[in-house]
Amino acid sequence: MSAVVAMDGPAGAGKSTVARRVAQALGFTLLDTGALYRTVALAAVRRGIGFDDAVAVTALAEELVAREALVLEALPDAGMDVRLEGERVGDAIRTPAVSMGASTVSAIPGVRAALLDAQRTFAAHAGVVCEGRDIGTVVFPDATLKIFLTASTDERARRRHSELVAREGARAPTFEATRAEVEQRDAQDQSRAIAPLRKADDAVLVDTTGLDFDAVVARCLELARARNLPRDQAGIG
Ligand code: DC
Repeated sequence: MSAVVAMDGPAGAGKSTVARRVAQALGFTLLDTGALYRTVALAAVRRGIGFDDAVAVTALAEELVAREALVLEALPDAGMDVRLEGERVGDAIRTPAVSMGASTVSAIPGVRAALLDAQRTFAAHAGVVCEGRDIGTVVFPDATLKIFLTASTDERARRRHSELVAREGARAPTFEATRAEVEQRDAQDQSRAIAPLRKADDAVLVDTTGLDFDAVVARCLELARARNLPRDQAGIG
């Protein structure tokens, strides 16, 4: 395994943007694991499969992985996209409906199992910053550095809401609806039986409430330097 920076935390803590900038700074590849669960949810919608039909969604995830119809694609500048049946689905997987669906399908053990190898394979050859919910606890328990990024519920709802407004303008949900969605997803992600969101014992907690983006990135890079990252990737476990 190459060097891995595991970045876990709840929705809206700023993981995606921070992980991308940290990956750029370290010269690492970004692995956004939430995009995988989102893509399974999108595929379920397209096939008319209910998110809570565990048997059908598991079979779907297994089939997509086996056929290589769900493929992670590293883009220049630490970008990442997912292809579903050859189509880039970067935008289609960001709608509120797919977000809730991703949260539901990610609680299905068979879905998590189907996606595990894809995540590990991605990190086999190059340094990665891997962001998700269970990276430090399940996917890469031996990660070089584990960061648990969090922020208060209000702050996370505010950030999520501004993202939605920037993307959808007047069609964006209200702040109250966004906050309710953040709370509902938190509850679902933390209370599920399999791989619930929790900080690994050896993860460093970074609370981003009231910190600006650059300060959060600087803190993560300081932690990376303390672990001697980046470094020559060849054969480092
Ligand atoms: O990070 P995100 O919002 O794109 O994640 C979408 C959903 O996928 C989220 O509700 C939790 C789930 N998820 C997960 O269970 N495990 C991961 N490693 C990443 C995401």
